[in-house]
Amino acid sequence: MNTMLWNADFDQRVVVPPAAAADWQPSPEPGVHRHRLDRIGDEVARATSIVRYDAASRFARHTHGGGEEYLVLDGTFSDEHGDHPAGTYVRNPPGSSHAPFSRDGCTLFVKLWQFAERDDEPLRIDTTRAAWRPGLVPGLSVLPLHEFDGVSTALVRWAPDTHFNTHTHPGGEEILVLQGLFRDEHGEYPTGTWLRSPRSSRHTPFTGAEGALIYVKVGHLGARFLLPPSS
Ligand SMILES: [Fe+2]
Ligand SMILES: [Fe+2]
Repeated sequence: MNTMLWNADFDQRVVVPPAAAADWQPSPEPGVHRHRLDRIGDEVARATSIVRYDAASRFARHTHGGGEEYLVLDGTFSDEHGDHPAGTYVRNPPGSSHAPFSRDGCTLFVKLWQFAERDDEPLRIDTTRAAWRPGLVPGLSVLPLHEFDGVSTALVRWAPDTHFNTHTHPGGEEILVLQGLFRDEHGEYPTGTWLRSPRSSRHTPFTGAEGALIYVKVGHLGARFLLPPSS
């Protein structure tokens, strides 16, 4: 079997810069484009992508065999359950299905086939209205999105000039920079950058004058979460 592998060595640190024009690949549907971040599998895949819907585009009805998680980055994504504007975070558990479309165009961050066993709870959060909590250091605020079986997903807002403690990620860490400029001792990550740091990686992140808003998932790069779809 000739399975597509893309950034599929989860023991490697990966930094993917914001999508350039050439990074967008066609999907099976006209007007729907994908920027691959990681992928194990072909059209059915354990995959992390940025997906762009042109105005008046749609995707065929499909079932999420392994679950679907998405965050709407801009525009409005729609399906038969309603309209999901920028800032909407959704988890469609394994077995769910929908026929999505966008009237005016939208961009999404999407993760497929990354649900833990028994995580069958649908979830929809309007992050533009949800309550933020203070983080561990001054200047940091956290909006928890989801927590299951040792995997945590959150939005984290960094005020300008916030410095976090040095820390280790036993189960790895994945970040999408949503706004501003995120930094650590390894580099600088402008809006749209995606980073995946392996198990036991360590860093000391901070922000400068720009501050940052990031999507963060930790704990999911342990071996039991990395199986490709069995279908
Ligand atoms: Fe879907
Ligand atoms: Fe971290």
